[in-house]
Amino acid sequence: MSTPPSAAPRHAPATLRNREPILAVLRRVLPPSGIVLEIASGTGEHAVFFAASLPALVWQPSDPDPAARASIAAHAAAAGAGNIRPPLALDASQPWPDLAVDAVLCVNMIHIAPWEATEGLMRGAAAVLPPGGPLYLYGPFRRAGRHTADSNAVFDRMLRAQDPRWGVRDLEAVAGLAAAHGFGAPDVVEMPANNLSVTFRRA
Ligand SMILES: C[S@@+](CC[C@H](N)C(=O)[O-])C[C@H]1O[C@@H](n2cnc3c(N)ncnc32)[C@H](O)[C@@H]1O
Repeated sequence: MSTPPSAAPRHAPATLRNREPILAVLRRVLPPSGIVLEIASGTGEHAVFFAASLPALVWQPSDPDPAARASIAAHAAAAGAGNIRPPLALDASQPWPDLAVDAVLCVNMIHIAPWEATEGLMRGAAAVLPPGGPLYLYGPFRRAGRHTADSNAVFDRMLRAQDPRWGVRDLEAVAGLAAAHGFGAPDVVEMPANNLSVTFRRA
C-alpha cells in the first residue's frame, strides 16, 4: 500500500489517558524480549510509547486503514525508535500474513468492528503465537450479561447506532471463542474508566 500524501500523524486523546495503566499490565504479561504484534494500532501513539517503554521488545504495528498506517509511520519516524517495524496492512478478519511473534496485543478494536474481527483475531493469534504466548486485549466488556457501568451502556448504544455489527462484547463470549482456539482462561484486570485488560495465553 502506498502512503497517502496527507501522511500526517493523527492523535487519539484516549491513548494519553490509558497508556500508563496499560503499560503497567504489559510489564507483567509480555515476555521480556521478542516481537509484539499490535493489531489495530490506530494512530500509532501506543506503538511508539510502548516500544520506547519496553526497549527489549520489537514492536510490529498494524492496521487495515492506510491513513492509520501513515500516521503510525509518521509517529515512529518522529520518535526515531529503533524497535518499531513498519506497519503491516492487517485486517484481523481476513487471512493473516505468515508471521511468528511472541505476543499479540489489541487495544480498543473488538467493539468497533464486526464480531468476525474477534473471530479472526483469535484464529490469527492462535496461529502466530508460541505455546504460552499472550494475547492481550483492552477495552470495555460486558460481564455476566451486564454492562459494568452506565457509561458503557451509553457507549454501546452509540456504537450499535453507528453500525449494528459493532458493540461492547460479552467477556464470556470472547473467552469462549478464545477457548475454542486453544487459549486458556483469561487473566482479567479492572482498569480506569470501566475498561478491562484481558490476557489469554495459548495453551
Ligand atoms: C478505536 S481505534 C483504536 C486504535 C488504537 N488501538 C488505540 O487504542 O488508539 C480502532 C482501530 O481498529 C481498526 N480496525 C477496525 N477493524 C479492524 C479489523 N477488522 N482488523 C484490524 N483492525 C481493525 C481501525 O482501523 C482503527 O484503527
